[in-house]
Amino acid sequence: MSGCPYFEKRHLLFKNKPPAEGEDDDPTQAGVNKASKGGIIYGDYLQLEKILSSQVLQSEVKGRKIHDEHLFVVTHQAYELWFKQILFELDSVREIFISGHVRDERNMLKVNTRINRIVMIFKLLVDQFTVLETMTALDFFDFREYLTPASGFQSLQFRILENKIGVADNLRVSYNRRHYRDNFKGQESEMLLATEREPTLLKLVEEWLERTPGLEVDGFNFWEKLEINIFDGFNQEKEKIEKISDWEEKEEMMAELVKQKEVFASLFEEKRHDHLVSRGDRRLSYKALQGALMIYFYREEPRFQVPFQLLTSLMDIDTLMTKWRYNHVCMVHRMIGSKAGTGGSSGYHYLRSTVSDRYKVFVDLFNLATFLIPRHWMPKLNPTVHTFLYTAECCDSSYCSSEDSD
Ligand code: HEM
Repeated sequence: MSGCPYFEKRHLLFKNKPPAEGEDDDPTQAGVNKASKGGIIYGDYLQLEKILSSQVLQSEVKGRKIHDEHLFVVTHQAYELWFKQILFELDSVREIFISGHVRDERNMLKVNTRINRIVMIFKLLVDQFTVLETMTALDFFDFREYLTPASGFQSLQFRILENKIGVADNLRVSYNRRHYRDNFKGQESEMLLATEREPTLLKLVEEWLERTPGLEVDGFNFWEKLEINIFDGFNQEKEKIEKISDWEEKEEMMAELVKQKEVFASLFEEKRHDHLVSRGDRRLSYKALQGALMIYFYREEPRFQVPFQLLTSLMDIDTLMTKWRYNHVCMVHRMIGSKAGTGGSSGYHYLRSTVSDRYKVFVDLFNLATFLIPRHWMPKLNPTVHTFLYTAECCDSSYCSSEDSD
């Protein structure tokens, strides 16, 4: 398909309409009526007959439909269509990782472009609630009873999306001691189970981070160098503080230094990290966390610029999903107050508890900011590593072609 069908129709109008008195017969406006020569036309291409006849309102008061139910239906359908597009992009990105094409760093641009597209769609989805909010609580009350027991709880695509990104089953907030999958039956329930078992975006990014060049113990050994530099840095700070003559200021600064040292000591304790992972407070493996921090520190190096952008976009997705949950719950509050939801949850109170870090898949990337250090504490890149970060890794020949699925 080439060109916008509307544009072609406009040509058609210009072509058939004789120029009015005093109007130039502008040759640049001349066109060909391609539609009349056969081929697919706008409505058929977009299957509009199906889409535009799918707004079936349930309300019926004295033989009339309730006006705002139309907006309610269209809004939900628009959300579901965008969820579908997000899943389409997400699956293609996951495939690049799963197939190993990601090892050819040229494919990282494709990954970034698609992840960024997901971010843009989410921005739209966060704002889209404002349209539905033009409906008042009373207007909603007029047709709410006709919806029962339909509920967003039954949005299969939303749950698949959460699962594929990496929302952990054991971190979900349950309601009435029910599992989220209980809302689905048969094939849908099986599909959800399958998405729980497939590699999530989180898992795939984790494996990729673990391979960050520079982490090799027999190479640059970033982690060991970082630990040495940080504690050397703290020791130098301590010496400076000890020279301060004001006793009170000295005590205060020393206490702050001890606190900071403890925070950083925790970064280098693998056991503690694993414990935090088991509690769900951290989600990435210890090695992946090291890779992410390395990308943060050396983000200006050519090889790390695109990876850094990816990490930023992943945080954007988490942030926007949290904003989606927040905007949704605010709207629910104003529409139904503290009434129970049509899907059987406590409604507002349940939804409010989902606006939490438990649902932030890439929470570790946010927390990395805790461990930022002065630039001069960063391990210096030696010339070999420096050159290496300028040139793309010469990868395994089986991966050396660009991802060519489309
Ligand atoms: C007047 C507007 C809306 C109201 C009053 C409302 C109400 C609710 C309530 C009460 C729940 C909790 C489950 C339940 O007990 O039913 C819920 C969940 C949900 N709703 Fe809405 N909703 C509205 C609009 C929307 C829209 C436009 C979408 C877009 C797709 C949506 C998607 C969802 C999803 C995905 C959930 C599950 C969230 C989760 O469990 O984390 N809702 N909604």
